[in-house]
Amino acid sequence: MNTLATFSLFLLLTLYLVGSSTADYKANIFNNLPGNANLTVHCKSAGSDLGTQTITYLHDFTWTINNILKCDMSWGNVKGNFDIFDPKRDASRCAYGNTCFWRVKEDGLYLFIQEHKRLELQFKWPGKIFA
Ligand SMILES: *[C@@H]1O[C@H](CO)[C@@H](O)[C@H](O)[C@H]1NC(C)=O
Repeated sequence: MNTLATFSLFLLLTLYLVGSSTADYKANIFNNLPGNANLTVHCKSAGSDLGTQTITYLHDFTWTINNILKCDMSWGNVKGNFDIFDPKRDASRCAYGNTCFWRVKEDGLYLFIQEHKRLELQFKWPGKIFA
């Protein structure tokens, strides 16, 4: 290969790697809690604080991220910290390969698993006792 061809190949490879490493993912959280409860969500991604959101009953909020997303969530006196998105864990199991649909319920957090085409319980609220 001549120098120009080598350089072109290098350039294409670089563009490809840069492009793929900045792929955007989405995490959508839907409040399906009982008793019209509001859900408070405070997320961080790769060291940056994304602030606090209050998601009212039957509403949702979407975060666009390109890295791990961890969130503190609370409603009433129930709270927990959850790994909401991890590219290694979720890039292939969430919808369309890039969108994680979470449904927050009384017993815990459900995720829509593309392969099974249904919501599946992933995390229970820590310490929550059911009557
Ligand atoms: C939820 O939040 C909304 C808007 O801030 C508020 O009007 C409502 O009273 C809250 N609901 C409950 C059950 O706390």
